[in-house]
Amino acid sequence: MRETIIAANWKMNGDSHHCQTFCQGLTAFCQENSLAANLVLFPAYPYLLTASRELGNQSGIALGAQSISQYQSGAYTGEISALMAKDSGCQYALIGHSERRTLFAETNEVIVEKAHQAIDSELRPMICIGESLAEREGQKTQAVLAAQIKPLLNDEKILQSGFVLAYEPVWAIGTGLAATPEQAEETHQYIRALLADCASELAEKTPILYGGSVKPENAKALFAGKNIDGALIGGASLNVQSFWDIATCTKS
Ligand code: PGA
Repeated sequence: MRETIIAANWKMNGDSHHCQTFCQGLTAFCQENSLAANLVLFPAYPYLLTASRELGNQSGIALGAQSISQYQSGAYTGEISALMAKDSGCQYALIGHSERRTLFAETNEVIVEKAHQAIDSELRPMICIGESLAEREGQKTQAVLAAQIKPLLNDEKILQSGFVLAYEPVWAIGTGLAATPEQAEETHQYIRALLADCASELAEKTPILYGGSVKPENAKALFAGKNIDGALIGGASLNVQSFWDIATCTKS
């Protein structure tokens, strides 16, 4: 069976107090209950060490960086390297989030370079893909997703990395308008077919998370899709109770 992953993308929100109380709350939930899913938190960089300290080594809750530099080290003011993220307690790197693609001009080429940096520093890449509203309305969803996935599948290093995909339709991110479970499952099925065209084992093992306005109210229906292996959650992940409530929807 494929692993299920529930990930929190806090974006540029919260402070050290939020990070600390969230981690304490989540650790307590995990100690009292067993969960079918693996949990990953993506705090802003300054709080990675706080989160790492609060969670400790035994919690089983993983940490990730919301972005990493495409460069290894050197004169890149303001950038954070994959090695620095690793050194701050990360096991994951989020790569190619649509906000990075659109607001910070990250191309598919840059995304491949970032994935290489992550892999070289033993971070597991969680790579985001997704179409805009205009692309969906123009019947271009499949073409857009194929163009985003192709560079990953042409890259031997990425293929061997155990990467995670997060399908996040841009029109569903932060809008309150999630994809319907049918839309999400249909698209995940298509993404898995693309992976299968490359290698059946890859399609079998790669977790494909859904992201875009996931909340406790819609999580169960979304997770019912057999190609939906968890979620990447923005807004609803800032509150520990609502993040936990979503995570428990993965229980069989
Ligand atoms: P949202 O964000 O849950 O607030 O829609 C998801 C994401 O951007 O990862």
